[in-house]
Amino acid sequence: MIPNLPGIHIVATGHYAPPKVVTNDDLSEIIDTNDEWIKKRTGIERRHFSEGETNTDIAVNAAKEALANSGIDVNDLAACIVATFSPDYYSPSVACMVHKELGLPEDVPAFDINAACSGFIYGLEVARGILLQSEKKYLLLCGSEIISKVLDMEDRGTCILFGDGAGAVVIELSEDKQYVSYLGAKGNSDYIFVPNADDEKRKVHMEGNNVFRFAVTTVPKCIEEVLKKANLSKDEVTHYVCHQANKRIIEGVASKLDIPIEKFYMNLMEYGNTSAASVPIVLSEMNKDGMLKPGDKIVCVGFGAGLTWAGVLIEW
Ligand code: UT7
Repeated sequence: MIPNLPGIHIVATGHYAPPKVVTNDDLSEIIDTNDEWIKKRTGIERRHFSEGETNTDIAVNAAKEALANSGIDVNDLAACIVATFSPDYYSPSVACMVHKELGLPEDVPAFDINAACSGFIYGLEVARGILLQSEKKYLLLCGSEIISKVLDMEDRGTCILFGDGAGAVVIELSEDKQYVSYLGAKGNSDYIFVPNADDEKRKVHMEGNNVFRFAVTTVPKCIEEVLKKANLSKDEVTHYVCHQANKRIIEGVASKLDIPIEKFYMNLMEYGNTSAASVPIVLSEMNKDGMLKPGDKIVCVGFGAGLTWAGVLIEW
C-alpha cells in the first residue's frame, strides 16, 4: 500500500438485468438437470438471459441509473470503463459504445477491462489510479456481461451457473476513506477457457471442481491479505461482498475465516454468476435497500478466469 493517497468514495450505484427470467425448471426442460441439484450445489434459483439486448444496452441501463443517482455533470467524468469478458465486438469496446449512447464528452476516455470475474475490482484499482492523476472529479465504472451468448447449453456443468446483468458505479476520490487492495493473476487456460473462435465454438469451458478448489483457497487469502494491509480485524468489516459464483463457495469462505455468514450478502439465487457484473450488482442492491451507511467498511472479493483474483477494502 502506498500511504497517504486518497481512497475512493462510491457516489452512486445502478444495476440492470434483462427481464427474461430462466428458472432451474426451465433449464431442466432442455438439459438433464433439476432444480434440486442446482439449488443444493450452487444456491442458484434463477438467472436472467438477454433476448436480443446487447452488452452495451444493459451496461447503458445500469450506467444511466448510477449517473442519475449521482446527480453529477458528465463533463466532470475522468473516464468511462467497462469490465467485461463478453463484449459485443472485439472492437470497439463496450465502454466506447456506452460512451456513444450516453453522449459523453469527447475528452472522456473509454475502454474495457477483461479480468473475467475479478474485472470490476481490477476496475476499481484502475479507476483510482486514473482519478489520482486527473483534473476531473468522477469516473464511471461498469461491470457488464451477456454470458448467455457464450454458454454451451448442452453442458450442464456450466450452463446452469451463469446469467446476464450489469452494475455501475460513479466514483470519486476521498481523503477520508481508507482503501487497500490485493490483486493477482496466474495464467491458466485449463480451468476456465472461452476460445477465440467462430460462434459455434466460442463457449465457456470449465473444470468446475478445479475452479471450486481455487476459489475456496484464493478468496480467504484475498480477504486475509486485505485485512492485514488495512490493519483491520475481520470483525471491524461491516460487509463482505463476494463474487456471486456459488453459495457453497461463499459459505466455505465464511466458515474457513470464522466470519458470520450474515455479513456476506448474496443474490446469486436471483442472477446466477454474472462474472464482472456480480459485485457491482450486489453493491447497487444493498445501496438501494439502505443497507450501506457512511463509514461502513466493505471488503469486495472476486476470482475467476485468467486465473485472476482481487480484493479491496473500501469505505462507504
Ligand atoms: O466465476 C467463476 C466461475 N466458476 C465457478 O465458480 C465454478 C466453481 N465450481 C462449482 O461451482 C461446482 O464445481 C459446480 C457447481 C460446477 C459443480 O458442482 P460439484 O459439486 O463440483 O459437482 P461435480 O462436478 O463433482 O458433479 C457431481 C455429479 C456428477 O455426476 P456423477 O459423475 O457423480 O454421476 C455430475 O455429472 O453431478 C453431476 N452434474 C449434474 N447433475 C445435475 C453436474 N452438473 C449437473 C447438473 N445437474 N447441472
